[in-house]
Amino acid sequence: MEKLEMLYEGKAKRIYRTDKPGVFWVQYKDDATAFNGEKRAQIMGKGELNNRITSIFFRMLKKKGIDNHFIEELSSTEQLVKQVDIIPLEVVVRNIAAGSLAKRLGMEEGTELSQPVVEFYYKDDELGDPLVNDSHIDVLGIATEEERRYLREMGLRINEILTAYMRERNIILVDFKLEFGRTEDGNILLADEISPDTCRFWDVDTKEKLDKDRFRRDLGNVEDAYKEILKRIGGEAHV
Ligand code: C5P
Repeated sequence: MEKLEMLYEGKAKRIYRTDKPGVFWVQYKDDATAFNGEKRAQIMGKGELNNRITSIFFRMLKKKGIDNHFIEELSSTEQLVKQVDIIPLEVVVRNIAAGSLAKRLGMEEGTELSQPVVEFYYKDDELGDPLVNDSHIDVLGIATEEERRYLREMGLRINEILTAYMRERNIILVDFKLEFGRTEDGNILLADEISPDTCRFWDVDTKEKLDKDRFRRDLGNVEDAYKEILKRIGGEAHV
């Protein structure tokens, strides 16, 4: 397979076309950004860690019946994925109050939620990815009611699988963000990445943060935290 021109460069990944129709080539970068790009840094090895971690999660989810765009890991920082048209919604699922929910609802970080909370954010850098409700999604024409129901259901199913999987590895899944895309034949497929950039992971015993909050909040040891996640889910990195 041949890597052709770059189609898109995001904050953490580059997407290339390939000579095979329907297949994209993804390259994970070491760039880290937070607060809608206001805070930037390079974290050595992050691209490799997130590529490895995402590959493990997507393979595991596929085995558990959650189809997704992942095809194969090509190298330490590259993977092949199925071409999808990304739906401009971030689907966030939360089990414990943290981050923007703790702030918005005035809850102390770490408060267990009585049930998982699913939220949609409109993916738009200029607007700073605002929280949107069903009517907003309707008037923006982003997704139909049936699609919204499906995204919510998938978010909750993936939450159950990931929570159990991480709990066995002594990690609390606090919250996470998913993205989905439409395939050419009209199906909705889980896409993008699942990594410490897009999830909050806390150690069960120490409650230590093992995710991007280490970067957002200047807690240090960002790379070590990502390495620890990879190690706990059975992977190996060479960074
Ligand atoms: O910041 P907030 O508390 O809303 O984030 C909720 C979850 O979604 C966190 O796990 C965070 O890492 C993830 N997220 C993300 N990309 C964004 C916003 C949030 O991966 N643009």
